[in-house]
Amino acid sequence: MPDSQISGFYKKTLDDRRKFVKEFAGLSDEDMNVISNTGAIDEGLIDRMIENVIGTFDLPLGVAVNFLVNGKDYIVPMAIEEPSVVAAASNLAKIARVKGGFHCTMTEPVMISQIQLVDVADPFASKMKIMEHKDEILKLANEQDPILIKFGGGARDLEVRVLDSRSGPMVVTHLHVDTRDAMGANAVNTMAEAVAPLIERITGGRVYLRILSNLADRRLVRVRAVFDKEKLGGEEVVDGMIAAYHFADADPYRAATHNKGIMNGIISVVRATGNDTRAVEAGAHSYASRNGKYGSLTTYEKDTDGNLVGTLEMPMPVGLIGGATAVHPVAKACVKILGVKTAAELSHITGAVGLAQNAAAMKALATEGISRGHMSLHARNIAVMAGAKTEEIDMVVEELVKSGKVRMDKASEILKKIRGE
Ligand code: MEV
Repeated sequence: MPDSQISGFYKKTLDDRRKFVKEFAGLSDEDMNVISNTGAIDEGLIDRMIENVIGTFDLPLGVAVNFLVNGKDYIVPMAIEEPSVVAAASNLAKIARVKGGFHCTMTEPVMISQIQLVDVADPFASKMKIMEHKDEILKLANEQDPILIKFGGGARDLEVRVLDSRSGPMVVTHLHVDTRDAMGANAVNTMAEAVAPLIERITGGRVYLRILSNLADRRLVRVRAVFDKEKLGGEEVVDGMIAAYHFADADPYRAATHNKGIMNGIISVVRATGNDTRAVEAGAHSYASRNGKYGSLTTYEKDTDGNLVGTLEMPMPVGLIGGATAVHPVAKACVKILGVKTAAELSHITGAVGLAQNAAAMKALATEGISRGHMSLHARNIAVMAGAKTEEIDMVVEELVKSGKVRMDKASEILKKIRGE
């Protein structure tokens, strides 16, 4: 059995790490060529981005078309492995255009940082004491990031909550920080760390955690669009889509899948622009549960003419400054494709894609079901997996879909037939 315990693995050169992995896992030269091909990213760069790096992981990058957001046209880069997503977003964006496209707003880009205080006998008095020192705490927080202040951001406000926890009362201070065009995790964490000793001095308690909250409910994107009744396929389709929304609204089991469809679109854009997909996911799902029951991030209703009106509201902690967005060459090119100049503009587009994606899934589910639309794209993947060559793929896909059995065994059988084996 090879030993996975290696000290200082991160100190090895990239080549040595690869050699080790090759031996450890018994990989072929071909496997190693695939892993070692870092595509658009320089080896030196990936080695600085994460630890123990051996290669990169590519995903298809597509562009959704037809997006009209706040009166401006966009094509939207999306990085995702799932078939149908880009086509579905483009399709509903086309329908939304008929009635003016997507109307989007954003709150101020305020992130929350939490400072957890324990060991206080009088938590409510401690809360008041912290509030009494609000100006001093905000001033100290703002001294940590002169650049952010220069660009008009900074710590804006304090909120103090007393929590009743399993280990007794906790006094949790929230720093509200306007992070402007940055996602802002580093800035708010640094501020929380800087003010923690002051909070200890003020209260006589002890601080443990100092970290941002991913329930970014002060940084919300809001999206609205009208989807033309006729373009959707008529009144019955609209009614079916509204019933699908009511299902999600009433049932967390359905809401999870409904919101997953939204995130198909959102995460593809977040990923393509080098933003933190996990932060956006965490924000979305915690926001969907904010009322004590997990629910839909979107709403649907009819306007007076019977058109479908959709809205979406959710945290959107994405930025244009710092992180992979600033260094990853593909992310940088994707930001150029979008032509966005602010994090707010990026948030608007991302939110619009989320609403379009959700409406597309509901339209498909309320009409032919999702499988038919997925089927030929799925069949394409199966054909490739079964070993079909470029010139054989279309024939295999056609036969697979016709047979209604989009499976590997069937694809192999069809391939044999085509090749006369
Ligand atoms: C599949 O990736 C997403 C859907 O399941 C979303 C939904 O059911 O609303 C189609």
